[in-house]
This record gives sequence, structure tokens and C-alpha cells, in this order.
Amino acid sequence: MPVVAIVGGQWGDEGKGKVVDLLAERAHMVVRYSGGSNAGHTIVNDLGTFRLHLIPSGIFHPKVSCLIGNGVALDPAVLLREIEELTGCGVKMGRLYISDRAHLVMPYHTLIDKLEEEARGGGAIGTTLRGIGPAYADKIARQGLRTCDLLSENDLRQQLRPILEQKNRLLARLYEANPLDLDEIAQLYIEYGHKLAPYIRDTGEMARQAVASGQRIVLEGAQGTMLDVDFGTYPYVTSCSPSIGGALTGLGLAPSAIAEVVAVFKAYTTRVGSGPLPTELADETGQLIREHAQEFGATTGRPRRCGWFDAVVARYAAQVNGCTAFAITRLDVLDILPKIKVCVSYEAEGKRLSRPPASTALMERCTPIYEEMEGWREPITDIRRFADLPRAAQAYVRRLEELTGCPAAIISVGPRREETIEVRPLF
Ligand code: GDP
Ligand code: IMO
Ligand code: MG
Repeated sequence: MPVVAIVGGQWGDEGKGKVVDLLAERAHMVVRYSGGSNAGHTIVNDLGTFRLHLIPSGIFHPKVSCLIGNGVALDPAVLLREIEELTGCGVKMGRLYISDRAHLVMPYHTLIDKLEEEARGGGAIGTTLRGIGPAYADKIARQGLRTCDLLSENDLRQQLRPILEQKNRLLARLYEANPLDLDEIAQLYIEYGHKLAPYIRDTGEMARQAVASGQRIVLEGAQGTMLDVDFGTYPYVTSCSPSIGGALTGLGLAPSAIAEVVAVFKAYTTRVGSGPLPTELADETGQLIREHAQEFGATTGRPRRCGWFDAVVARYAAQVNGCTAFAITRLDVLDILPKIKVCVSYEAEGKRLSRPPASTALMERCTPIYEEMEGWREPITDIRRFADLPRAAQAYVRRLEELTGCPAAIISVGPRREETIEVRPLF
């Protein structure tokens, strides 16, 4: 059962793209299972630096099939742009497949995302404005359109008409915005349908057959466990399940097919958008990390909030996802720091907490309890074996293993595929 699921263990941007690209070298198939173009997965290779929003991070391996599962909220305009850009760089799309059940991000979703954020004022979530929340809301409300609907002009129009009438009433009455035109949207999406038709498949069936024939599959998560609509810092979350549950509903594989669940943790913590971040550093260390590590969002360019590694969050993510291992990325970023802190528990209202509380208001009031560790203050990007890491770096990783209750399988020491220490091969 060589299926390995990669999930974000923090608030997204942990380096999932790099880890998936690395594992894809030995895989037959990579599947994106959730999220949409709110994701930005960075791959650095000989062709350049790529920020993938919808296309799976296995695309640079010519023999790997790349599937976009039914759990993804698909914006056809973004996908077509991404296909064009990658094709322009010589990347082949012959093995890209899109689920026939993936929900579509429609023009009213992006518009409503923006209007809702504006209406929230000071309580804005800080979404990526990619229409993700409204698209998943329509999916659950049973008024979404899916990729299979793109293939028949008549069916698409018939389904779109009543939905758009309702959206236009909402736009006019609640937001005093101009209505959207049925013909314009129908025509645009039919055109998308013509372009995407060659890629549209029953991806769940493809994945099940691949499992049956013993192929090696990487399930690529987007976002992170703390952005999960159920397990994250609600309501400052995304609108789907980035954690392992989403890998099941977002593709159509059975849980028993998954052999390994690997959380990706950054060696410190970052977050874009609003919501609690107990270990946030509002001081010069936070600034230093952000500037040294160029912590700016891959999708929106926003500066990422930076803080120390939060082992309360990481342990919780390891437990929620049933992780068999973790991958730690950007360990090299800590090279410059003389001392490194790790949050081992929270304190709030006179009590110690070992798990993130359900209440976001309470989480905002949590003070991190830190352990301080020695830094190593030497470059580690060229190191390829755990034993060759400076002692203090080894101690840091070992401490994170203890605190999360999970072993390290991959240590990433630079953005490129080869800048990696493989502690235990996952395939
Ligand atoms: P993702 O959304 O989880 O795929 O992560 P992002 O691509 O949004 O952000 C991760 C950033 O860290 C990207 O700029 C990567 O190129 C970079 N990166 C990944 N691993 C490493 C690493 O080990 N060291 C350094 N310095 N950068 C890394
Ligand atoms: P990757 O896959 C980091 C955040 C947004 C916002 C919240 C809700 O690159 O790790 P949304 O647009 O989803 O409704 O925004 O979630 N967010 C991410 N943060 N990385 C991501 O993806 C994210 N996708 C969404 O910043 O706080
Ligand atoms: Mg990202």
C-alpha cells in the first residue's frame, strides 16, 4: 500500500510543494486533494522558481500522473493560465487529469469573497480572495457547478440560470452590486470546458486502480491543519479540510489504502491572514526571520507573520492526522540565530494547556511557555546526512520528535530538491 499523504502541520506554507516534488521522484502518481488556487506551492528547479496554485507538485517529473481530485475547488481561469505558463517553460501536461466531480469557482464566488471580506471590516479573515469560501459554501449547500457540467452547454445553462438568479438577488440586495450576466458566464465556462475536456476524468477510479496495481502515490495536501474548517482556529480558517479527512473525501480512496501520513512542519511558525498565532514575534527576531527567509505569501505576496515553533500545534496536528512521520523544512533559516525557542505549552487564565483550545478568543489569550535551545550558527544547506548536522541542530530535531510524538523522515535544508536530508525513505 504505497500511498503517502502529505499534510500541512501548521498554518500553511510549510513547504509541502518541495516535499511533494521530492517524493514524486519515486512515485507514479501525485494527487492534489483539497483547497484551490488559494494555495501556492513553491518548487525550485533547473527551469526556475514555480508557484503552483492548482497543478500538483509532481508535474515536473515527466512520468508521474498528476491528478486534481474532486475535493479541489477549481477555478478554470487560474488552471488554464497555469497550464499555459508551465507549457511555455517546456513542462509537459500529457499526464495531468482533473476530476469530473471537482467543484468550480465561478465569477460570483470571487466577487462575493471580496464583498464578504469588506463587510467583515475589522473582523476580516484575510482570505486570499480566490473565491474559495463561497465556492465550498455552495458545494455544501448543493448549488455548486462541477467540471462534468462544463461538458454540455445545455446542462450548464440550465443549472446556472436559477443559481445566478439567486446570486444576483444577493448581490443587488445585500451588497448593492451590479448583477452578472448569464450568457457571458455560460459562454466563458463553455469555452473553459472545451479547453479542459481532454483532462477531465474519473480521478477516483484512476487512483483506486493505481492502488490495486501497487503504484506509489503521493497525496498532496494544501493549506494546513490549523486552517482546517473543523480542527483549525475557526473562523480564521479556510473552508475545507486540509487535514487527512480531506484526503479521503477529496479523492475517493479508502483510509486503509494510506500507508503513511506525513505532516510538514516549518522549523518555526508562519501565518498569513488574521487569527490567533500564540508564538508570533512582533519584535526584531520576527522581522529578522521574515526578511532573512523572505516570508512573503506565494499567492498574495502578503508578509507572513512569523514566530517560534509551536509544539502544541505540531503535536495536535500529528495526532489529528495520525502522522507516521514528519518532514521539517527551512531548518537552514535558523542558522543565523544564537538561541532558538520552542513553545511546549500554553498558559491561559491561570491554567496550563497542552492542546490548542476550541475557543479562538481563548487561544488569542494564550501565552506560550517556551523552552530555549542553543542555535548552531553555521550554514547547513550543503549537509546531506543527519549525523553531519551540527550537534545543536540534531538536538533541535530530536526535541521536536519528542514533543510531537512523531519521528522525522525528511529534513529540508534549502528550497531545492537536493537540499534535503532523508532520515527514513518513505517509499
Ligand atoms: P507550501 O505552500 O507548503 O508548498 O509552501 P510555500 O511554497 O508557500 O512556502 C515555502 C517556502 O519555503 C518556499 O519559498 C520554498 O521555496 C521554501 N522552502 C522550502 N523548503 C525550504 C528549506 O528547507 N529551506 C529554505 N530556505 N527554503 C525552503
Ligand atoms: P498553501 O497550500 C497559507 C489562509 C488565508 C486566510 C485563510 C482563509 O500554500 O499552504 P481562503 O482564501 O482559503 O478563504 O483564506 O486561509 N490560507 C493560506 N495560508 N497557505 C495557504 O495555502 C493558504 N490558503 C489559505 O491567508 O488566512
Ligand atoms: Mg504556500
